[in-house]
Amino acid sequence: MFPLRGLTSTPLPPLHLKTSHPLPPLNATISTAITNKFSISDEDLESRGFNLHRKIADLNLDHLNKVFVAVGFPRRDPQKIRLALENTNSLLWVEYKKTQKPVAFARATGDGVFNAIIWDVVVDPSFQGIGLGKAVMERLMEELLEKGIINIALYSEPRVLGFYRPLGFVADPDGIKGMVYSRKKNSKR
Ligand SMILES: CC(C)(COP(=O)(O)OP(=O)(O)OC[C@H]1O[C@@H](n2cnc3c(N)ncnc32)[C@H](O)[C@@H]1OP(=O)(O)O)[C@@H](O)C(=O)NCCC(=O)NCCS
Repeated sequence: MFPLRGLTSTPLPPLHLKTSHPLPPLNATISTAITNKFSISDEDLESRGFNLHRKIADLNLDHLNKVFVAVGFPRRDPQKIRLALENTNSLLWVEYKKTQKPVAFARATGDGVFNAIIWDVVVDPSFQGIGLGKAVMERLMEELLEKGIINIALYSEPRVLGFYRPLGFVADPDGIKGMVYSRKKNSKR
C-alpha cells in the first residue's frame, strides 16, 4: 500500500527485487516456520537481528520518513506522519537492532469492526527480498482478522500485485472496482 498517486508528487521508482542480499532470506530459517502461523516467527526474527514493534513509541519518524523516501514515497511532514500514526488502528514496524532504525513498516486504518485499509507497506531497499514485507503483512492481517474485520482493502502498484496475491488479496473481487477521488489538475477548488 502506498500514498495515493493523486497525493504524491513523485512517481514510485521501479521495484528492484534483489537477487543477492547482504542478509540471507529470513524464510531460510525454517526451524519454527513449519509449526508457526507466520512464515517467520517472532523468535527467528529476533535471532536474525530484528525487533518487532506494534506501537509508535520508540519509532523515530525521521528515520521512517527516510525509508518512505528511499522507496519513492514523497517526504512527508513528520508532524503529520505522527498525527496519522496516532489515528491508525494497527501498525507494525521492524527495527534492525544493529542500527536501531526502522527497516519495515505497515499500518491499517479503519472503523475497528467491519473495514480496514492498509497503507504505507514499506521495506528499506537494503532489506528487501528477505521476508520482512511478508512478516509485517502477515502480522497486520492476523491482528485485523482477530478483531473480526473481514473487509480489508489496499491499493497496490501493478508491480507489487504479485506480493499481495499470496497474502490473500484479489483485484476486483466479484467485479467490484475501487474508485478514488481524483482532483482535476487545473481545479481551483
Ligand atoms: C513490496 C515490498 C513491501 C515487499 O517487501 P519485501 O520484504 O521486499 O518482500 P518479501 O521479501 O517479504 O517477499 C515475500 C514474498 O513476496 C514476493 N515478492 C516481493 N515483492 C514482490 C513483487 N514486487 N512482485 C511479486 N512478488 C514479490 C517475494 O518473492 C516473496 O515470495 P516467497 O514468499 O514466495 O519467497 C517491498 O519490496 C517494498 O517496500 N517495495 C517498495 C515500496 C512499495 O512498492 N510498497 C508497496 C506499495 S503498493
